[in-house]
Amino acid sequence: MKINHNYQKLEQSYLFSNIAHKVSAFTAAHPEKEVIRLGIGDVTLPLCDAVIKAMQQAVSEMGHKETFRGYGPEQGYDFLKEAIAGYYGEQGISLDLHEIFISDGAKSDVGNILDLFDTDNTVLVPDPVYPVYVDTNIMAGRTVTYLNATAQNGFLPLPDPAQKADIIYLCSPNNPTGAVYTREQLKQWVDYALVQKALILFDAAYEAFIKDPSLPRSILSIEGARKCAIEFCSFSKTAGFTGTRCGYTVVPQELTFEGASLNAMWLRRQTTKFNGVSYIVQKGAAAVFTPEGQKQVKANIDYYRQNAAVLADTLREKNIWFTGGENSPYLWMQCPNQMDSWAFFDYLLTEVGIVGTPGSGFGKNGEGFFRLTAFNDHENTKKAAERLRACL
Ligand code: MLT
Repeated sequence: MKINHNYQKLEQSYLFSNIAHKVSAFTAAHPEKEVIRLGIGDVTLPLCDAVIKAMQQAVSEMGHKETFRGYGPEQGYDFLKEAIAGYYGEQGISLDLHEIFISDGAKSDVGNILDLFDTDNTVLVPDPVYPVYVDTNIMAGRTVTYLNATAQNGFLPLPDPAQKADIIYLCSPNNPTGAVYTREQLKQWVDYALVQKALILFDAAYEAFIKDPSLPRSILSIEGARKCAIEFCSFSKTAGFTGTRCGYTVVPQELTFEGASLNAMWLRRQTTKFNGVSYIVQKGAAAVFTPEGQKQVKANIDYYRQNAAVLADTLREKNIWFTGGENSPYLWMQCPNQMDSWAFFDYLLTEVGIVGTPGSGFGKNGEGFFRLTAFNDHENTKKAAERLRACL
């Protein structure tokens, strides 16, 4: 038996597991210290009432022979796909139900989609970046080419026509930097991909945090994108589903490469390797798009936005450079006094009991930067802001 040696090229552990171990070791050694977690982007507000009611109803249906459901369609129930299509319709984007695939979250789909592509593709990934894009390509034996995202380009790199690419990863609002591409900037990427005959893998997991109506929430709102982009989205950050698990991927019918339809290939992949998301969870997800559901999830997003504003005000007051925090739950700050990212992580944890995410964990250009999330509760976020004010 031969193992996949590509795994030996990976960092020893996944960034957020590594941080969780460090924090556990610290809390075990200092049980008296109260630690405030602004690290992994995990939500703290409970599921909204509309979702809970829909899931309770679905649980009860599962308990009666007449309404019990066994295997569902691998690509998701029509009631949820219709609700998602309606949500896109409000943005002027028309989707066929066959283009929407329901899954257990964007992370799985972002990794699994690579089944469709040959190893011999040039992969362009911004640096810093959500580590899943890089690690899943390394696992598959692909070499990754990096695109420099820096303070100079506002952490929003644009295409270089001289650079070759087959697969391009974009995430906007960005994880980790919170920066958001404008329509014009995304159009540049779409035009570039069309010329290169490349595919954009667009991660829209944080789209619900965009409050500026001029900013695009979906790459599919950009002309030409249906011929070059797959979009991944999730209920995790939109509706607090980090533990409930549900997401969706949009694979436009126009996506054909070497004469093959990516939509048909993804359907083939999913029907073979995936048995779908539970009926109960999909019922909960569909409730997000009802008028009550929308009102309730938007109130939760506003709650996190207020946290982001508290953290942003603190950084401004301390004259610390940062991106994000406005149309995103993440703030990406420069470490003070030229500290490196892990030194600042240790400093914040040991001195003031705040957990954040070291920028270098997202790539070499993240060195000297640090990510804070707005997903904790108001009380802890205010407390964290006070502690930051005192130590920065
Ligand atoms: C993050 O903190 O970057 C995210 O929560 C990770 C994820 O969505 O998988």
